[in-house]
Amino acid sequence: MYLPTGNARLDPYLQDGYEKVLGMSSGFAASVCGYIIRRQSEMGIVGHVAEIGTFEGRFFIAAALGLQPGEHAIGIDVFTWPSEAVLDHLHENCARHGLKRSEYTAIKGNTADMTPADVVAPAGGGKVRFFHIDGQHDDPNITNDLNLAAPLMHESGIIVLDDMLHPGYPELVESVHRWLRAHPEWRVLGIIDREDIVAAAKYVLCRVEATALYEMDLLKAFAPQVYPLGCQLAGHFTMVLTPNPRLAKVD
Ligand SMILES: C[S@@+](CC[C@H](N)C(=O)[O-])C[C@H]1O[C@@H](n2cnc3c(N)ncnc32)[C@H](O)[C@@H]1O
Repeated sequence: MYLPTGNARLDPYLQDGYEKVLGMSSGFAASVCGYIIRRQSEMGIVGHVAEIGTFEGRFFIAAALGLQPGEHAIGIDVFTWPSEAVLDHLHENCARHGLKRSEYTAIKGNTADMTPADVVAPAGGGKVRFFHIDGQHDDPNITNDLNLAAPLMHESGIIVLDDMLHPGYPELVESVHRWLRAHPEWRVLGIIDREDIVAAAKYVLCRVEATALYEMDLLKAFAPQVYPLGCQLAGHFTMVLTPNPRLAKVD
């Protein structure tokens, strides 16, 4: 499912290119994230976009097509799975969908061996305004990846976590909620519901102070996708955006 993001560079890719790039992120989630990245630019939030688990670039290209001049896209992956050819495929896909080599850097490496400075080194330093974490889905890796991303974030930046509430990774949210309890300055702004088992739900995180920047804006922009009950998470309201919002019928 694709929804317009208002970004003239991104929308054609979502409609006609996204599914052609091998990957596991949903079109619905990419639409919401593409909208967020556009609104960040309109609000004057400047910074790089980064992704852990870039693979062949499906979601990475979508995020990077929202870049403004002076910003850079950074994609991190071990680039060995399912073969070494994955990095070539990433570059081919970026070229095919209009992302210039000067606009992005692919870092080949394991995030367990990286420092925050390593992540933004290809961009000459600076803050990240949008970070998608989609690497190894286990406790040490998600914890490491959150710790890698958080210090780099623009004060109004967004971190998106893939494969939340996924039946194949039932313990992953436990690690995320433990991290959130240890970092109360961060909260779950919204949950983007899954489309499919390989197009799973994402958590959208921001710092508590940045909630007001995004919350009403997203609830308005995606009104037809708002699950009316939302959810309570850590004692606060969290919006739930879903492709097909409805409540169970009670006669
Ligand atoms: C599910 S795929 C990502 C899909 C992609 N984000 C998309 O939109 O289609 C997960 C990727 O994370 C990478 N990965 C796993 N653990 C990693 C680590 N510790 N450091 C860097 N990359 C890692 C894998 O090589 C794999 O390509």
